[in-house]
Amino acid sequence: TEQPIAVQGAMDIEISALLKEMKNYKEEQIGNYSFYIGKIDKIPVVVSRTEIGMVNAAASTTLLIEKYHPKVIINQGTAGGHDPNIHVFDTVIGTEVMNIGSMRSEHLDDGEGMKPETWKSMETTMRENGEKVEYKSFKSDPKLIKAALSVADKYSHGKVVEGKVGSADFWNREVDRIQWFHENAGTSVEEMEAAAVAQVAKAFNIPYLSIRTVSNSEVSGDKIEDLETAGQYGAEYAVEIVKAIEK
Ligand code: 5AD
Repeated sequence: TEQPIAVQGAMDIEISALLKEMKNYKEEQIGNYSFYIGKIDKIPVVVSRTEIGMVNAAASTTLLIEKYHPKVIINQGTAGGHDPNIHVFDTVIGTEVMNIGSMRSEHLDDGEGMKPETWKSMETTMRENGEKVEYKSFKSDPKLIKAALSVADKYSHGKVVEGKVGSADFWNREVDRIQWFHENAGTSVEEMEAAAVAQVAKAFNIPYLSIRTVSNSEVSGDKIEDLETAGQYGAEYAVEIVKAIEK
């Protein structure tokens, strides 16, 4: 049997457009994680609702891989802008994803306070053929990036840009902190799942793609926060990407 394409979203608003496109599907639950097995056109697809955050993303991705053996994993959904030139309803193809919650601080004495701007990002250690390998970030698969770019013209709600996605169990709204990430880590957007999924996908050597539609930004001047609409737009674009992968 043909290996499916897996498409993940954390919330219902990030997967409903995919389920609608599948029309008929079978729901399976493992623990509290739901997987929806069906087809888009004639392409076998597993839609996975990961739930929110890094732990949920990692756990559901592990189950996804073990149970459904996807040939590729697309992680998509909403995000907050870090780049002032990226606006609400623009979509970022996450060519690179980084765990921006993985940090260490230098020693400060009692009473010296907290200095988040001096924190250093900590690399992720993986084991490959018995050897330890350090990753500053994870890369999306070049062929999947190409497929996403090939249908960028079908996305009509904003621009489609390549960029770097920062993930953590954190929703940042402090403009100085957002600018600090943008300048020091080079992040375009932030969200709460991509890097966890990329790390697990890497551990099993499965091609991975991150796609994020911006639903809010503290730095673009847009006074909008609309996760529902951004989730819908992103999932509709993901449908086009699935079709492009099979072409
Ligand atoms: N910061 C963090 N997560 C965000 N999300 C959307 N915007 C942001 C933001 N500014 C996404 C996360 C998570 C949910 C809370 O929304 O990926 O799934």
